[in-house]
Amino acid sequence: MYDDFAQVYDALMQEIDYHEWADYVFRLLLNAKSPVKSILEFGCGTGNITLELAQKGFEMTAVDLSDNMLTIADEKAEKAGLNTIRFFKGDMSNFAIGEQFDAVICCCDTVNYLPDLKAIENFIMCSLDALKPGGLLLFDMNTPEKYKEVIGDNTFVYNLDDVFCVWENQPDLDNNKMNYDLSFFIRQKNDLYERCEETQHQYIHSVEDVFKLLKIPAFIDPKIYTFGTFMAGGSESDRVQFVVEKRG
Ligand SMILES: C[S@@+](CC[C@H](N)C(=O)[O-])C[C@H]1O[C@@H](n2cnc3c(N)ncnc32)[C@H](O)[C@@H]1O
Repeated sequence: MYDDFAQVYDALMQEIDYHEWADYVFRLLLNAKSPVKSILEFGCGTGNITLELAQKGFEMTAVDLSDNMLTIADEKAEKAGLNTIRFFKGDMSNFAIGEQFDAVICCCDTVNYLPDLKAIENFIMCSLDALKPGGLLLFDMNTPEKYKEVIGDNTFVYNLDDVFCVWENQPDLDNNKMNYDLSFFIRQKNDLYERCEETQHQYIHSVEDVFKLLKIPAFIDPKIYTFGTFMAGGSESDRVQFVVEKRG
């Protein structure tokens, strides 16, 4: 997962406005009891949110499972002169760092890569351990409605400058799973194209079931927003944003 695909991830995500996304995270963080300085980010990928938040002055520590995604993130951080960002390889459902942060974030439906509620519960517990009292945990998730109605069994073709990609969605809704078959051709220095193939899996979780995992004494005030807003969200939204505070 996220092996060769790491090379084309940023090209295919061009339509995502990461500046706006990081701004939303920034606005959510303004509701913390104490000003947020340090952030632990799970599933940082190629660092698109990480770099945006570092540029806003946050002390970023970023974790991902994919070596290739981390290598690209690290190169981008170095190029941008953001040398204070720390990157770690790790699994967010089994991660301990022995430090505590003002906030833990996880963006861009990374939680949908966790296969079941137990793995999500483990991710929530790892986040809890990594939070200072009063710290905020923020993560977003694609809803079952989005997998059914928007992602569906569509096929997309991307014809970009140096990448040609066919992206096929193969829903397995009975098993709460969405498979993505990716075939891509990457232009090499000699103008020939290298063909790569990768299959990825995301998992479909009910908004209510995930919300229940946040209703524990260690947390206060769990909220679900419709992504991008501060309005109550639920299973009818395409993407929801969970926000919860660690009890002080
Ligand atoms: C959709 S990408 C999102 C990347 C980034 N957050 C962004 O907004 O562009 C999902 C990322 O989650 C990472 N990932 C998936 N499962 C993970 C896990 N269990 N622990 C840590 N990272 C994981 C993948 O390697 C990938 O980089």
